[in-house]
Amino acid sequence: MIQFRVEPSAVHALEADVVIRLVDASTLKTGTLQAIPGLPAVLDQAVGSYVNNGLFKAEPGDVQVIPTLGLVTAAHVVYIGYGGEPLGMEGLRKAGAAAARTLKKLKAASASVLVEVGLYGGSESCSTERAAQALTEGIILGHRTRQPRLKETPAEQVIDIAFTPVQHEGGSLASERADEWEAGMNRGRIFGDAVAYARGLTNLPGNMLTPEMLAMEAEALAGEMSLDIEVIDEWSAAEQGMGGLLAVGQGSANPPRMIVVHYEGAPESKEKLALVGKGITFDTGGISLKRADGMEEMISDMGGAAAVLGAMRIIASLKPAVNVIAVIPAAENMPSDRALKPGDVITTMSGRTIEIVNTDAEGRVVLADGLTTAIQRGATRIIDVATLTGAVMVSLADVATGAVTNDETFLNQLVQVSNQTGERIWPLPSYPEFRKLLDSDAADLKNSAGRYGGASTGGLFIGVFAEELPWVHLDIGGTAWLYKDRGWETKGATGVMTRTLAEYVIQQG
Ligand code: BES
Ligand code: MN
Ligand code: ZN
Repeated sequence: MIQFRVEPSAVHALEADVVIRLVDASTLKTGTLQAIPGLPAVLDQAVGSYVNNGLFKAEPGDVQVIPTLGLVTAAHVVYIGYGGEPLGMEGLRKAGAAAARTLKKLKAASASVLVEVGLYGGSESCSTERAAQALTEGIILGHRTRQPRLKETPAEQVIDIAFTPVQHEGGSLASERADEWEAGMNRGRIFGDAVAYARGLTNLPGNMLTPEMLAMEAEALAGEMSLDIEVIDEWSAAEQGMGGLLAVGQGSANPPRMIVVHYEGAPESKEKLALVGKGITFDTGGISLKRADGMEEMISDMGGAAAVLGAMRIIASLKPAVNVIAVIPAAENMPSDRALKPGDVITTMSGRTIEIVNTDAEGRVVLADGLTTAIQRGATRIIDVATLTGAVMVSLADVATGAVTNDETFLNQLVQVSNQTGERIWPLPSYPEFRKLLDSDAADLKNSAGRYGGASTGGLFIGVFAEELPWVHLDIGGTAWLYKDRGWETKGATGVMTRTLAEYVIQQG
């Protein structure tokens, strides 16, 4: 647990276990780093000599710990490199994450982050509130370990983190900014905790998160945040004609669920944004079984669902004046004697028929019913988030989320928001030829067009079920899971798109 506060006094700031200072190589090399009141100059000089002999490069995210040897109450000063130019939100998030990882190593119970004038803003035009939010987010996100839900020690240490704004003229403090810092910290806490929640859900193994359990998690969230929720079980799903959801779920002893969460922030408006998240709690591939190598990563095949629930947590906290409906088709994709088979033809909730040619292309089949469910409940715009394809990784690796849309303006708005949140989105083409590849002799469309153009064809399949409403598909197949820590992301589930979805909704309100 991390507690955040503003500490206006630089003198008190030096009483924490650890003091954190952001520095750049050129001021260190030239010895022109400004002194912090109360911080002995020898410490800055020590780190300066590390830079001069090449032991510390002070590149963005580089960390150098200097012990204070009793010169001040703080036991260590942690110097973190940054580019020297004023930081935007992404730079602050990365610095925050580097700080958090170091605090964990030092087992610090308290830390002060010195925020010197000129550290943020500039051409990135990052406001004080935004800066506070980004630093807070970075610290929370960098601090999280892979399996917080399973392995957290019972008596978790509380870390007290104080932000101390430092103005160099006479060492006086920008205490008039304290309100903005408080507001930003509060937002950063809400955003960071929601991502940690999404990561925690996604990291749960398949046996600890079946579709039923995912529905219970959503119910707990709805209860906590006072949101309306419908959980549609396999019997009502059958009554409502959810042939896609039921087909994918039929091979498993753990029955599927359609989860619908409602947030009404603008009751007088007819506009309703649907967030539809793929909730495959485990994807074996079904009869078109995946190879064994790395299959365990498929616990993350509900990463889209987790991002949607994480975003709803933020939305319910910050209460923007918009209407949002979250829809999660949840199923476990298993091979068995009653499983869906290649060649089967199924009828979806929309009435369209699908020829199943590959049972491993299951996400689009459950999402078809997810979109129809959203539309039947009044959605006017749709964003779906899904670990839909491995193919998206062929073009974008784990570096960007791929997007497919029927509405360029809508997608551009999301891309702009993602530039602020640091969660990259890159548009994939949606040429008519791709859609033609999904034509079937046996049904309205088939569920796979093969390897080539796989991320585009997968997205376009889902788009058929958007019924001409403005729609964006986000393929997080590459970005939902990492094999090693990177910046503010931790290995395992990343919770990607939680913040982008929420920020988009909030900017609409
Ligand atoms: N959940 C997978 C996609 C995936 C694979 C995400 C690896 C992250 C890492 C999805 O259900 C799937 O299996 N897609 C197939 C589609 C193909 C059969 C058309 C794929 O990408 O191979
Ligand atoms: Mn699959
Ligand atoms: Zn899948």
